[in-house]
Amino acid sequence: MSPAATKNSLSPAEQLHLRELAAVAAEHSYSPYSHFRVGAALLLEDGSIVTGCNVENCSYRLTSCAEQAAIARAVSEHGPAIRLRAVAVANLNGSASMPCGACRQTISEFAGDDVVILYPEEAGAHKTTTLGELLPHAFRMDFLDKR
Ligand code: THU
Repeated sequence: MSPAATKNSLSPAEQLHLRELAAVAAEHSYSPYSHFRVGAALLLEDGSIVTGCNVENCSYRLTSCAEQAAIARAVSEHGPAIRLRAVAVANLNGSASMPCGACRQTISEFAGDDVVILYPEEAGAHKTTTLGELLPHAFRMDFLDKR
């Protein structure tokens, strides 16, 4: 395991806690179109936990994913300097739900490649991985300085 992964690794109890909080957050999901009830729980580097759920819209493309809702809430409540240590995703549909591509990019704005990502896989399994695994070669703000 790399030093960064070691620094960021969560105990099994911490992982379970974050997953449970994501599932609780999913109970507030506003998803009358997909009926796919998603919750996310963020563990910030300062130890704070912030949750969010998906919020759909009848124009469909305005839908906010749970991860994005949680990140917007975390910035609103804790300020623009937040850094993520872990992100857990859960759904109440018994389905797999890894962060979508847009959510991976949104997470990358506030986290390094070593941020821990927890999500349900198919058949009830739980996956623990990192953003670097899910979004290699992310577009990062550093590239904007090269003008
Ligand atoms: N959804 C999330 O909340 N997070 C994701 O990473 C993928 C999808 C939501 C959006 C929509 O409300 C529903 O799941 C079905 O796509």
